[in-house]
Amino acid sequence: MPEGDPAADAPETAAVLARIDRTRLPHHVAAIMDGNGRWAAARGLSRIDGHAAGVESVRDTVKGAARLGLTALTVFAFSSENWSRPRGEVAALMDLVKRYLRLETDNLVANDIRFRPIGRLSGLPPDLEVMLGRTASATRGCRGLTLSVALNYGGRAEIVDAARRIAARAARERKAPDLDETGFGEYLTTRGLPDPDLLIRTSGERRISNFLLFQSAYAEFWTTLTLWPDFRRRHLYEAILAYQRRDRRYGGLG
Ligand code: FPP
Repeated sequence: MPEGDPAADAPETAAVLARIDRTRLPHHVAAIMDGNGRWAAARGLSRIDGHAAGVESVRDTVKGAARLGLTALTVFAFSSENWSRPRGEVAALMDLVKRYLRLETDNLVANDIRFRPIGRLSGLPPDLEVMLGRTASATRGCRGLTLSVALNYGGRAEIVDAARRIAARAARERKAPDLDETGFGEYLTTRGLPDPDLLIRTSGERRISNFLLFQSAYAEFWTTLTLWPDFRRRHLYEAILAYQRRDRRYGGLG
């Protein structure tokens, strides 16, 4: 990881990190980043300031996930329902993602992080779609963490899109698809990634909010009262510690 990374050496962070069992890491962690607006309101700032502060949390969490050696981190940046927010807030969120791509692409490559946008990307502003494609291409050969950013994403829409593509293929090939659950997963935007083992939601909310519906079937859910702009890699490590204390039974008796 790059130099000049003060949080990496913070004793509190190091103490949590030291307690993690590296042989039992979750492969894929997903995060619903919530509470930016409340964080800003509590400080007399605009909601947009809250989202801007949230980008710092993304940066720190990505570094923490990569350093720990996770396979995948997926963050929910903009849902298909978020278009109903005020126009200025939507535009600011798009700008923040563009700025992130401008500033971070080289850093992602340097840290072997593969960037993968997921969602109905063709519904995004065209310049953002182009930039997302560029960062994805620039990091295609990276073999460390896969960072997926969900934009214009909805879990139901993703399942419907997969079903449509399967139907279209069946019509082309004139035969019924030979599909099981694993095969279906190959039509989702997360194809090739393990299912999330751990799903984090900040700000005390306890909803799935249409995020990774198919993939999260057996994800362990971890919530924190911490608002997303205050979230740091230390919180990721705390979530992983809690995950390691859970008894995952996948519907069996364990
Ligand atoms: C939810 O908080 C947060 C969002 C809808 C946006 C999250 C986006 C970012 C942190 C920026 C993404 C950037 C990158 C680079 C991935 P809220 O606004 O719903 O908060 P509230 O519930 O307190 O109002």
